[in-house]
Amino acid sequence: MEKENIIEVKDLHVDIKMMEGTLTPVRGVNFEIKKGETLGLVGESGCGKSITCKAILGINDKKCIPSGEIVFRNEDENEVDLLKMDPKGKEIRNVRGKQISMIFQEPMVAFSPMYTIGNQINEATLLHITKDKKKAKEISLEVMRKVGIANVEKRYNQYPHEFSGGMLQRALIAMALVCNPKLLIADEPTTALDVTIQAQILELMKELQKEFDMAILFITHDLGVVAKMCDRVAVMYLGRIVETGDATTIYANPQHPYTRGLMGSVHKIGGRKDERLFSIEGTVPLAMNLPKQCGFYDRCDARIEGLCDKAEPELVEIEKGHKIACFACQNAACQAHRKEVEERLKREESTKEPVEGGKKRGKR
Ligand SMILES: Nc1ncnc2c1ncn2[C@@H]1O[C@H](COP(=O)(O)OP(=O)(O)OP(=O)(O)O)[C@@H](O)[C@H]1O
Ligand SMILES: [Mg+2]
Repeated sequence: MEKENIIEVKDLHVDIKMMEGTLTPVRGVNFEIKKGETLGLVGESGCGKSITCKAILGINDKKCIPSGEIVFRNEDENEVDLLKMDPKGKEIRNVRGKQISMIFQEPMVAFSPMYTIGNQINEATLLHITKDKKKAKEISLEVMRKVGIANVEKRYNQYPHEFSGGMLQRALIAMALVCNPKLLIADEPTTALDVTIQAQILELMKELQKEFDMAILFITHDLGVVAKMCDRVAVMYLGRIVETGDATTIYANPQHPYTRGLMGSVHKIGGRKDERLFSIEGTVPLAMNLPKQCGFYDRCDARIEGLCDKAEPELVEIEKGHKIACFACQNAACQAHRKEVEERLKREESTKEPVEGGKKRGKR
């Protein structure tokens, strides 16, 4: 039997009101994560990964306006839409830090320098699990042991500056796991660490995932890390998912020109695991006043003139669980989508109606 989804992100948009106009760094993102599964969210800097994660927890700046649906299966097994909750309200606070927690890239920023590590881990325990301070301390010490912090009684009373980077990242993981969340969002959790420590932390996360039976949304630039950690991958470009599927399929058979570029950039350098994904020519455009065209058009070597510059392709399933948004893909399902859009463009041209993109906002 297939596992249930723990979360479904549907047509998520995030608008940011700026002096110069509206920036839309997330433009219709769809993905789901099953219970206990790891989904890797990959893409270049600025493509909207962090804003997407923060939208799930309702922790973006207030100038960031999300829309769409984020359906979460909560601790009572009810489906709730996180976007309908007041970002400052009680309901989301019962989800945030307890049922869904997040690990950030920079542990130094996540901890306050003013309080001891123990105090900060305790905060979540006291808020969500028990009001009894002694019990809370026991729970915190136990989770600190679990993440491999030695000498926990002493460590408990130390301040963040007394921890090394790797140890601090372990403490951050302890803080994220102390309430036994069903979903962990890990936003580049090991980028700031050196390679050996990184490997240890990843191994630890995998072990803890099994033990806690939690799903992970794993954000990274690093395809080596994806291969090691993730069951499925969603490749993000300019605020949209352009390809998604099982990690093994995406590695063996990448279909979107952008994904192929990413894979190529890894293979070119001999599969070095710590390489970042910057070797595709050109840069990601700013998500403001975007023309109605495929976001990857300017950098794509497979683009179809007169089509890819006039409409944006939708995600289409080309084999079970493998979806891609590209008119140039030769797969029958993509070609059927291409034909449909070409015909629509023709109709719109002949009736001189304004040309719409591949999809009208709000519909799937
Ligand atoms: N508060 C904000 N105000 C204005 N623009 C923002 C804000 N937060 C993010 N952006 C812009 O939105 C886009 C997406 O940002 P985001 O942080 O989600 O990227 P990312 O994919 O996480 O990148 P990285 O890999 O560098 O962490 C970027 O162009 C960024 O500059
Ligand atoms: Mg980010």
